[in-house]
Amino acid sequence: MQHDGAVAVIVVDNPPVNALKHEVRAGMLENFTKAAEDKSVEAIVLTGAGRTFMAGADITEFGKPMKPPGLSEVIAAIEKIQKPTIAAVHGTPLGGGLEVTLACHFRVAAPGTRLGLPEIKLGIIPGAGGTQLLPRLVGVEKSLAMILSGDPIPAKDALAVGLVDEIIEGDLVKGAVAFAKKVIAEKRPLKHVRDLDEKIAPFRSHPDKFNEAAANVAKKSRGLEAPLAAIEAVRAAVTMPVDDGLKRERELFVKLVGGEQSKAQRYIFFAEREAAKIPDMPAGLRPREVTRAAVIGAGTMGGGISMSFANAGIPVTVIETNEEALKRGFDTIQKNYQISVQRGALKQEEADKRFSLLKGATSMEAAKDADIVIEAVFEEMEIKKQVFGALDKLAKPRAVLATNTSYLNVDQIAQITKRPKEVLGTHFFSPANVMKLLEIVRGKETAPDVLATAMAVGRKIGKVPVVVGVCHGFVGNRMLSPRQNQAERLLLEGALPRDVDAAAVEFGFPMGPFAMSDLAGIDVGWRIRKALGTRNEIADQLADMGRYGQKTGRGFYIYEKGSRSPINDPEVEEIIGAASKRLGIPRRQIDKKEIVERLIFPMINEGAKILDEGIAYRASDIDVIWVYGYGWPIWRGGPMYYADHVGLAYVRDQLAHYAKVSGNKSLDPSPLLTRLAAENGSFASFGAKKSAA
Ligand code: 3HC
Ligand code: NAI
Repeated sequence: MQHDGAVAVIVVDNPPVNALKHEVRAGMLENFTKAAEDKSVEAIVLTGAGRTFMAGADITEFGKPMKPPGLSEVIAAIEKIQKPTIAAVHGTPLGGGLEVTLACHFRVAAPGTRLGLPEIKLGIIPGAGGTQLLPRLVGVEKSLAMILSGDPIPAKDALAVGLVDEIIEGDLVKGAVAFAKKVIAEKRPLKHVRDLDEKIAPFRSHPDKFNEAAANVAKKSRGLEAPLAAIEAVRAAVTMPVDDGLKRERELFVKLVGGEQSKAQRYIFFAEREAAKIPDMPAGLRPREVTRAAVIGAGTMGGGISMSFANAGIPVTVIETNEEALKRGFDTIQKNYQISVQRGALKQEEADKRFSLLKGATSMEAAKDADIVIEAVFEEMEIKKQVFGALDKLAKPRAVLATNTSYLNVDQIAQITKRPKEVLGTHFFSPANVMKLLEIVRGKETAPDVLATAMAVGRKIGKVPVVVGVCHGFVGNRMLSPRQNQAERLLLEGALPRDVDAAAVEFGFPMGPFAMSDLAGIDVGWRIRKALGTRNEIADQLADMGRYGQKTGRGFYIYEKGSRSPINDPEVEEIIGAASKRLGIPRRQIDKKEIVERLIFPMINEGAKILDEGIAYRASDIDVIWVYGYGWPIWRGGPMYYADHVGLAYVRDQLAHYAKVSGNKSLDPSPLLTRLAAENGSFASFGAKKSAA
């Protein structure tokens, strides 16, 4: 604690993010009590050292016995203080950090501060008053939006809704002390957030508003428990006296924090951060500077990738084969920005600013100034080699050369250049401007600082980068393939597309494998298989008939014009029945449990092979890939986490059983799965051993 005249300044210093661990809570309680009792202190400022004000409870303490004082106790003590208390915030005051500020009479913020209650992303709700106090301060609708999205709001929005009282330009603590002195001099009335009523009163007579919100959330939250609990807690803020509401919030919080969903979501939080750590990188390695990018190809992926760079303020040159293709690409980008503006997600001037960072060109020469070049041309080795051959000649020395290939061998592409050290894969997911996952494919010669640069760029453009090794389909698509095979196999054995899709959706995926094929286009896989000389029984028959999916109005389902809702098609059922007959496969009733296990367990089996081969560094990397790239339900923690959860011996036995039932050798449990199951081990411990090595 420091003193500036009659103002005491309490500084929380627990790097890197001032998480509210036990010592911080105890320290705050002690210092606030001292300052409250000290007659020479007339006001108290609370601030955080380092890069941010408190970013919330210490997540590593969840699931363990709580050492007193609890956060609620600290907050109750602050609320009782009769001298002005001022929270001076910067960086990311989040979760419990923001809740502490709500116990203070005033809040001032540095410009650039982002304030929020992100608990929902961890499968919990605010547990130290957030759901009760925020509505009293900023109103019910704004609170619900913040609590349900978990997204922080910028300081200027916080000022507009009354969450902060002043934005301090220049030195934050000095400004906060000056603010405190003003409050003392003016004898300003102290604002006790818990006593405010004006903003919640109108909702007391409109319970229907909550019912609407609950119905909407139930539709969107797909299996998640926390969003409905959050609505219930905010409803309690409106319908109950504040202390009863706080009690209700606490009950809901305690139940969620002890539950399986939050455990899985916390696991993913740390898994995402773990993925940033590459085991064998030299210490002190610095990423190269990237101020300009070039993207080759303005198709589906090139357009989205270019937007990701422009959205992060990095100028991009987009290169196409001709003006017409370039125009098509730019028109799509422009349309995407317009949609965001119409939805209110983006201001027109911001859209214009981003669009102005994109320049088009029809000559590869235009890539010569770029610090990173990302190739997103057709998925054909010969074309990729041509592009990299040309880039090798003209790209500036030390430019990072990346391919967005889905399946092709990155080492072969690198070998066409005289600088294979500078080459790697950056595998984005569609739509690339939206999807957060970025697989970074490390070639056998990729230089460590090139890898570090790609990771840093990935983070800068808002992605979650995960390093993977070279193999057909890398991690995500390679694991998707056995799932698709089993989905088709289930059709031949007796299921219908709607049965398989319904089971996948019930498990928690946003859509089932057949709805997904229809969305992506059945023709994509059909063309690849044609080139490889292989064939899928049902999908390829549909593609032969011109049934490519949504784009042709017919695929595994029928789609009415302008609609994306799948309708069952008796013709497809006939095709499936005839195929079973032709192949001599007896059709039988297949229950949901078998469908889910036949979709999920072969993926886990493939994941085990991927781990064993060192294509992924750790099981948690695979989980991050599936959660951020393929819609794996986050509350189930990812396929490898799920496998550990249901037990590896069970997964092994079921795979062996299904291999027998369906006569399908590819379902045989992999050596690593078999070994870990026999040892009573887990994928989590296997990953940990490898990265510690
Ligand atoms: N508890 C424990 N560790 C945390 C933490 C937290 N709340 N927040 C971040 N960390 C750790 C990270 O794991 C990471 O550790 P590592 O270096 O060993 O990998 C380190 O701090 C730095 O974190 P980031 O790499 O994420 O740093 P960034 O600068 O990119 O992001 C951040 C900073 C925006 C604060 C981000 O870390 C974040 O979103 N943190 C979580 C915030 C949160 O969810 N708060 C709510 C907690 S729940 C709560 O408060 C309950 C209450 O209502 C009772
Ligand atoms: P696309 O067909 O939509 O776009 C490819 C573009 O590249 C076309 O506009 C074409 O004119 C252009 N092009 C071709 N040769 C070129 C050259 N020599 N110079 C400049 N431009 C050239 O293809 P899409 O879907 O964008 O795929 C691109 C790459 O991304 C492929 O390798 C694909 O496997 C990969 N990918 C695709 C995903 C998807 O969902 N579509 C997901 C992840 C990766």
